[in-house]
Amino acid sequence: MKDLKLIGPFSQLLTMNGLLEKGPLDDSALEIIENGGVLIRNGIIQKVGKYDSLKNDIKLPKANLIHIDEKTVGLPGFIDPHTHICFAGSRANDYAKRISGKTYLEIAREGGGIWQTVQQTRQADPDQLYANTLNRAEKMLELGITTAEVKSGYGLNMEDELKMLKTIDRVHKNAQIDLVSTCLAAHMVPKDFNGNSRQYLDFILTELLPQVIQNGLSRRVDIFIEKEAFGEVDALYFLQKSKVLGFDLTIHGDQFTPMGSQVAIETGALSVDHLESSTDKEILALAKSDVISTVLPGASLGLGMPFAPARKLLNAGNALAIGSDWNPGSAPMGNLLLQASLLSTSEKLTNAETFAGITFRAAKALNFHDRGKLATGMLADIIAFPCTDYREILYHQGQLRPSIIVKKGNKID
Ligand code: NIG
Ligand code: FE
Repeated sequence: MKDLKLIGPFSQLLTMNGLLEKGPLDDSALEIIENGGVLIRNGIIQKVGKYDSLKNDIKLPKANLIHIDEKTVGLPGFIDPHTHICFAGSRANDYAKRISGKTYLEIAREGGGIWQTVQQTRQADPDQLYANTLNRAEKMLELGITTAEVKSGYGLNMEDELKMLKTIDRVHKNAQIDLVSTCLAAHMVPKDFNGNSRQYLDFILTELLPQVIQNGLSRRVDIFIEKEAFGEVDALYFLQKSKVLGFDLTIHGDQFTPMGSQVAIETGALSVDHLESSTDKEILALAKSDVISTVLPGASLGLGMPFAPARKLLNAGNALAIGSDWNPGSAPMGNLLLQASLLSTSEKLTNAETFAGITFRAAKALNFHDRGKLATGMLADIIAFPCTDYREILYHQGQLRPSIIVKKGNKID
């Protein structure tokens, strides 16, 4: 009995069960359990159903009940499949230039952009970087995100890439949110590297990644495919070799130029992220593949650019995930629900499509099969918002905050 807990009643429980992995979703397909409850054993969901019948069947002592007195709507904890929250410094100077009319790529060419954050992150001592990252991770959890991906990519040398990945690991171990790290040493060719892009990618493949493996720091790699970063041929080379080393692949692609999604398809990447510049050709090719299309509305909001064609991606049959891209440059806001809500109103996404993008479809982009839905055998990552109708959540455009957060069966105070 000690390890059993029952949480509820939730006015509505939105389980996200029974929904298609890919393509459009109608709200009528959502499974909603009125007055629902979740039975949890050792942090894993044992059963989801009506609160009263779960309670009567098991007859748990009071100490094993997490009784909810207010009216709430419960959902699986949100999953943010794309962030860069491990960084030092600020790029308010870039932002000021952008709102005065300079573009992201122009600023990068002038030596600002990612390179500025690299310099600031290299200078930060590990404890400072840890404190920064922990603070952001805790903010994400408060917003209902119980799992987030975090990339390196502001070190761009052996010492500082490892410093970043170790920091992410340290936050993962000490915070209540789960973090999954991705090595993004291929974010750009560092300005102080003595060699061309292929030589830099070879340094990552032959020197850095073996250290990453040896220290158990990450099992995912990412590369930024763009005119100012890496070309498609180099990316193909890098990703194929990374895959042989055992890494899962993800790609920053089709952000300003439609290059990247084709590489994602050819290399069997888990996801291609951004897609603001994808045309019908890329959208249709992605739909035929198993690559998840991850869109990043926070980057559009931070750069003042149109959103990725989320509606078209879904209509073509893609699996759409939504990430915050929280980073100091293109996406400084760091509020996934607010961004997903704004994306849904502009792109005309249903509640089901929007929530799928930040729950089970995002889980798939991270190769997780144990979260993103409220079902037997899944992690007991549950969040609840103070309302009685699930549609209130997007309606408040990120201003309604979860009042209950449960991570692996433990209620967070
Ligand atoms: O996802 N596009 C490349 N990388 C990040 C931005 C990183 C930065 O500007 O610091 C992105 O938008
Ligand atoms: Fe990014």
